[in-house]
Amino acid sequence: MPLLNKICQTAVLASIVVSSIVWAEVTIYMCGDSTMQDWNEGYYPKQGQGQDFHFWFDKAKVVNRGQGGMSLGGGGKDKNGGIAVGYYDMFFKKGCSNGNCIAEKLQPGDYVVIQFGINDINYSTEDFYKSNMKKMVDDVRAKGANPIIMSPIRRCIFDSPTQIHNSYRGYPALNQQLAKDLNVPFIDMSEMVANYMISVGEKYAQQFVYNFSTKAEYSNLGADQSDQVHLQMNGANAYGRIITEQMRAHSDTVVKKLGEYMAPMYQVDVKVSPEGSAEATSISAYYPQGMTVLLKTIPKNGKKFLGWYDGNGNKVGASSRSEVKSAYIYTFKMGKASTQYTAVYEGGTAEKYTGDGAALTAFPTTTPKNLDDVTFVPYTPPEGSEEISVPVDKDIKRFIDASNPDSGVGNTENNWTGFIGKGFYNMENSNTSFASYKLKFPAAGYVTLAVRYANGGNADRTFNAYLDHDYYLKAPPTGSWDTWDTAYVVLDAPQGEAELKFMSTTSDGAPNIDAFGFSFAGVCRMGDESCEDSSDITKIATRGGVGQPAVRIRGNDLILAGNGPAQVSIFDMQGRIVARKIVGSGTLDLASTVGAAGLYRVVVKQGNVKFNGMYAKVK
Ligand code: GCU
Repeated sequence: MPLLNKICQTAVLASIVVSSIVWAEVTIYMCGDSTMQDWNEGYYPKQGQGQDFHFWFDKAKVVNRGQGGMSLGGGGKDKNGGIAVGYYDMFFKKGCSNGNCIAEKLQPGDYVVIQFGINDINYSTEDFYKSNMKKMVDDVRAKGANPIIMSPIRRCIFDSPTQIHNSYRGYPALNQQLAKDLNVPFIDMSEMVANYMISVGEKYAQQFVYNFSTKAEYSNLGADQSDQVHLQMNGANAYGRIITEQMRAHSDTVVKKLGEYMAPMYQVDVKVSPEGSAEATSISAYYPQGMTVLLKTIPKNGKKFLGWYDGNGNKVGASSRSEVKSAYIYTFKMGKASTQYTAVYEGGTAEKYTGDGAALTAFPTTTPKNLDDVTFVPYTPPEGSEEISVPVDKDIKRFIDASNPDSGVGNTENNWTGFIGKGFYNMENSNTSFASYKLKFPAAGYVTLAVRYANGGNADRTFNAYLDHDYYLKAPPTGSWDTWDTAYVVLDAPQGEAELKFMSTTSDGAPNIDAFGFSFAGVCRMGDESCEDSSDITKIATRGGVGQPAVRIRGNDLILAGNGPAQVSIFDMQGRIVARKIVGSGTLDLASTVGAAGLYRVVVKQGNVKFNGMYAKVK
């Protein structure tokens, strides 16, 4: 049928021509703070909402411009006591101070998703927030692009099983008010995620949504996490799913149009066999192709987990994420077919998938409740900002000579006494001087950084340590340039290579810096011979016997196999101390020590051995 062929060819050609004329791919810019940003692989499974967001779209581009620590408005006091610069001035407006300004990149038809408030409670005021939001929206519209305002996600704090704490004061409501006043489409994430958390419950919210990951689960973690602010991969993607569902069903047609740019979605059904064996298991959900799916199950006390099985009834192979260490977790990249997995426990069987694998055609939405219905309890969190308060640990494993940074503005000197190593680094007396070091971290987690410094001047010298974020250090006078003291700060370190940069923040520059060190063993300077051997941490943790950690939790028992008295501290998930005991080696019954059922953090110090683990007391 040559004629029909010809017609078909012409039609195909025409559609190519037409589509290349009308088709200009839109870009969706995701603007927000550390709950939005991309987190370096070394932090796995920590993830921002914007990080995998691109997978949901196959006909639009997503650019994640989440920036940790940022307020939208700025104008308040920053950590150094100076004036905080907000996201609008730093990353957004034309000629923004950080360069790569979003306003200069926008094309007509692009979208800008704006989600702030978490850091504004500290570094801004509602007035700055309002005026900078207005400027941002005006700039977006001036380019013919489309703003969308989202309220911030909540912290994982359950005031009760049906009430999620409002940690961000008036900012969720202010976002809604601004959306109304400026006539900008609104997505109420504060409300949506609160509903989601209530629906899944506190344990699931911690174990599958927020980053309460443990080093027993992931090989890159050096310490267990209990992060109420930031998400883990599964949670970031669950919140991405909520955002896209809200977009698909939005009353604003321009936002709703984004639904047309979304990729096919495939269902992953999750079963447990025999039913009731698990304390909690990943809930069934849909994913776009390419997104990493994480399945996890937490056995009930006494239940033996046999493994994850796929829809053909076969036990799965290795996880796609090499960091996964726990047999309870399985990760894989979503393919192009809906499927099913079973967490099989003793006595159970893998259920075979009986569906047709087809992509979904309907998407659930839950209409956000009106914020007017919600009572906001004004609340100032203890530290205010998105940072986590982790105590300083002055047990520094090893100091690294700071005299020769990999790059810096200043000089390597030795004209004052008392330094260790080859000398010290004298940063130029200006607020732009710095010293930068390429380091390798054996594991991710909170770690104390100690900086040995001299400040012979009369006033405090403040400076920043930058490791993916700014951390603030204060160096009070030491009396002379020959006298050295140590300043400490807790950092959130990634596993693997990272740059640590000391930056002056005043015109006097930073103090002279002699050396720095960490409370983790095995942190090393790239290029040092010793940098290849970063196994100290595991050595410490396994000193109890052949392949057996000196301290571990098994069932309800805390097992202390090391020598000498151990200090055991147990905290609840709000960080309140529940019990503190000095015990000898042997076994401590955690069930009777903690009281009520729930999740607890157990911290043990026994000689050199430190242990930080989670214990779940089940009813
Ligand atoms: C003096 C001192 C330097 C120091 C400098 C400063 O010049 O010799 O070591 O760095 O003061 O104020 O920072």
